[in-house]
Amino acid sequence: MQKVGVIGSGTMGNGIAHVFAQNGYQVNLIDIKTEALERALATISKNLDRQVAKGKIDEQTKTDALARITTFTNVVDGVSECDLVVEAATERLDLKMKIFKEIDAAAPENCILATNTSSISITELASATNRPDKVIGMHFMNPVPVMKLVEIINGYSTSAEVTQTIEDLSKKIGKVPAMANDYPGFIANRILMPMINEAIYTLFEGVGGVKEIDTVMKLGMAHPMGPLQLADFIGLDVCKAILDVLYDGFGNPKYAPCPLLVNMVNANKLGVKSGEGFYSWTHGTKDLVVSKSFS
Ligand code: CAA
Repeated sequence: MQKVGVIGSGTMGNGIAHVFAQNGYQVNLIDIKTEALERALATISKNLDRQVAKGKIDEQTKTDALARITTFTNVVDGVSECDLVVEAATERLDLKMKIFKEIDAAAPENCILATNTSSISITELASATNRPDKVIGMHFMNPVPVMKLVEIINGYSTSAEVTQTIEDLSKKIGKVPAMANDYPGFIANRILMPMINEAIYTLFEGVGGVKEIDTVMKLGMAHPMGPLQLADFIGLDVCKAILDVLYDGFGNPKYAPCPLLVNMVNANKLGVKSGEGFYSWTHGTKDLVVSKSFS
């Protein structure tokens, strides 16, 4: 395993490219827009600086990591010599199916095709390819350079050999793998999203305010941040989309997104990325200021 293609240069894609490059792999970072690729390289450089400042890596490691990343706007060129491709495009089934068809046609026969999806079925994505045994979920957590977990998801036809390769590789890049099978939400979001949804219900029903809910979970349960703050970081649209997958997949009303979450998504109050969610983020992510709608 030497060359890794990463499709999508957004938050997750640039984090994944960063981690592979820092650990000695040649990375082809692929996106349709040149500007997105330029932004991604600037973000990776800034995040490597952060690691240098914290004494986690030295300047040379940063320079070497950046030198290992090549950018592409064309999927065929980007994946044609890869041993592994990790797809981290927008979380939409139709888009991911199209991408899997494309990379299956262009990548070498032995190349493993992984997806960073947070909830879409690996088995369904594998059905877009002629190599379902080589399709697997590799779910990184945000912020990717910091979070230790890689949730590895076996599709229905993923071979044991491919699973072992990805498990070993995850360890080589400094992560801790946890294996899951391919059912809606896998492990991470099957547990995380109902907790976030319940926190939103707690606010919706007036049991507690934004600060109180997050304080209870932070100080009472030693979570690093409260569920409402975390929802703002993840993006309320993403939280709703994952809850929709759980609800559709299990047909159980307990997974239905809280009406307040649905309203906020419709109002484009998506959290950090739109500047407002449960908190106001227009001033940055340092201070926690409860959004006017809830204060
Ligand atoms: N997403 C994006 N950025 C995050 C983040 C998250 N979940 N959590 C923290 N950050 C950012 C902070 O905004 C901060 O950025 P700036 O310096 O630019 O303001 C930076 O990371 C450092 O954060 P802290 O000041 O909290 O630094 P720390 O070193 O004390 O802790 C941390 C870092 C361990 C990442 C801690 O913040 C933490 O535990 N955060 C929660 C992480 C988490 O739960 N991630 C999982 C999200 S779910 C997911 O990714 C999968 C999915 O499918 C939805």
